[in-house]
Amino acid sequence: MLVRGIAYGGDYNPEQWPDSYLQDDIRLMKEAGVSVVTLGVFSWSSFEPEQDRFEFDRLSEVMDALHSAGIGIDLATGTASPPSWLSQQFPSTLPTTADGVRLAWGSRQQYNPNSAVYRERTAALVTALASRFANHPGLVAWHVNNEYGCHVWESFDDESAGRFRAWLANRYDSLDNLNRAWGTEFWSQRITDWDQVIPPRTTPTLHNPHRLDDWRRFCSDSLLELYLIERDILRAANPAVPITTNFMGLFFPVDYWKWAEHLDFVSNDSYPDPADPRAAREFAFDCDLMRSLGKGKPFIQMEQVTSAVQWRNRNAAKRPGQYRLWSIMAVALGADGILNFQWRQSLAGAETFHGAMVPHAGRASRTWTEVVGLGSDLGELSHVQGHTLSNKVAIVWDWENAWAYANAVGPTNEAVPENAARDWHATFFELGLSVDFVHPSQDLTSYAVVIVPSLFRLTVLHARRLHDACASGTHLVVSHLTGYVDERGHATEGGYLAGLRDILGVTVTDYSARAIEPAALGSAEQLAVDVDRISSSVGTPAADTRVDLEWMLTGYSGAARNWAESVRIDKHDVETIARFDTADAQAQVAVTVRRSPGHGSAWYIATELDGRARRSITIAVLGERGIEVDFSLPAGVQRLERGGVAFVLNHGDQTVKVEGTDVPPRGLTLRAAVTREPELAPLEAP
Ligand code: GLA
Repeated sequence: MLVRGIAYGGDYNPEQWPDSYLQDDIRLMKEAGVSVVTLGVFSWSSFEPEQDRFEFDRLSEVMDALHSAGIGIDLATGTASPPSWLSQQFPSTLPTTADGVRLAWGSRQQYNPNSAVYRERTAALVTALASRFANHPGLVAWHVNNEYGCHVWESFDDESAGRFRAWLANRYDSLDNLNRAWGTEFWSQRITDWDQVIPPRTTPTLHNPHRLDDWRRFCSDSLLELYLIERDILRAANPAVPITTNFMGLFFPVDYWKWAEHLDFVSNDSYPDPADPRAAREFAFDCDLMRSLGKGKPFIQMEQVTSAVQWRNRNAAKRPGQYRLWSIMAVALGADGILNFQWRQSLAGAETFHGAMVPHAGRASRTWTEVVGLGSDLGELSHVQGHTLSNKVAIVWDWENAWAYANAVGPTNEAVPENAARDWHATFFELGLSVDFVHPSQDLTSYAVVIVPSLFRLTVLHARRLHDACASGTHLVVSHLTGYVDERGHATEGGYLAGLRDILGVTVTDYSARAIEPAALGSAEQLAVDVDRISSSVGTPAADTRVDLEWMLTGYSGAARNWAESVRIDKHDVETIARFDTADAQAQVAVTVRRSPGHGSAWYIATELDGRARRSITIAVLGERGIEVDFSLPAGVQRLERGGVAFVLNHGDQTVKVEGTDVPPRGLTLRAAVTREPELAPLEAP
């Protein structure tokens, strides 16, 4: 964004109020220290009330007034919520569900990403907006559409089928290749004509997983095409204005790694639930992910809420201090802007009770006091703008892997890769460390430690990157369910872990899922020895969530859950760190490490560790590389550094003393950082 200092503000939708509110809004914005507002996110029906009649005069007046007051404008293109005339005149612009139901107008985001008419009409609107405003002096960024994929990311109509076919033809060249990739000899699914390729509409039972994988890729790419259509128009109109679209954390349907390279800066929307004690952790996850998607460059927190949202069943408000605390945490983790949805709380519509910077009560509210307070804090942090972080630890995250797991139909039908990534991130968050996320096909050699949580789909390139990293000294921690399928989602033969077997020195030969509810056949009455003579004597370890571990060394503790693999040790220098202490896997290897001279160590974890066990291993691995964890910090306290500032953030409910200063509950202190760039421990000589 073309803004000096840490940007502060929110979505501003002045069309919802009488024109006379504008001057009052600007006065309040100045009072709060607002430097940027996002205009026009859902304004298509006022920008273009009927086809090709564009009305931008009021927008122009608002932009001029904001600019004269020194407030920058992040101008949205308004294409996320098509007006009623579009669906009325062109029903093909509406999305169709897998059951063939065409979704109706009357909410928002009701567009079919594959509709040619929708694409033409968005291009027309964006062209008109750009030709009028691309050189406006108040324009600090373009905000394309809004939260691509939110609510609707796919459509199953015939037009979408046609685009899917073209996308597949481009990927596979021939039907033979497609048939091989999709394994269509199974269940008589061989395709003999491109016209037989259709979207994965509702079927009697399970879909072909490989078709689903391609459908996911296609849908993400199709949405990306929408973004690029708009981006190219805006870029041509004025190359100096940066362009973004707002992401949504670990949003499943869109591969943000692929998208991020087309954004001038990454921006994100986060709404963690203040009723959950893990909310700050979740927010930190999003911040670490966004900074990483932008290759370490600062990101903009494009949306969050000052108090409570309205869309949960119970909408907890942020506790006193949390709005400031979490916002400053985002800055410490790389945000160069803190924006909210929205500036003024709506008077009507579906978001009337969503929090805002100016609540219904106006200045007579705690929210307003906190909004003004944060504006002044951010003003004092302006020198942090542009500074990056340098993390030595990374966690592998790959959307295609998560899709492959979700579509695979077993081994368990749970969100394993997402949960594993969140769990490992949580371990570092609780130890007070910010970490990067990385794609498994990128160069990983600059990291001291790389965590590979459940990389189910492991490609040849991924394995090579991990090899190279380990050979250059990176410590790898690979967890369960890795390397089960290849690039196409086809099973790995000869033992799982595939191309990682030689660095880890182990092979996974079998697996068993735990914590599966035994199905009740007949009535689920309690079994009794004297009545159910046979069944009552049968044990079911698979029904136990917990999987106990026996640690071979002191300093480790914790258990596991849900999953146990059989591991064969292939290399003589593999050390066993823990064994299973659980029925059916008793004494089998659960955690191993291989330390090869001149290489980083390579850990394998054949189960889903609990928090205590993850912490043990993390501390051991960090210690081996000389990365310090500050164990002196009181409970609740996070200490981060960015741009020469040490941020001491107290998430807890108690006043704590840190470095001689009292930090109140949900309070913070800022001080000059004494840089603590880790001195990495040398590797054992080869
Ligand atoms: C999303 C949208 C906003 C608003 C918020 C509500 O992030 O982009 O327009 O609806 O949700 O939390």
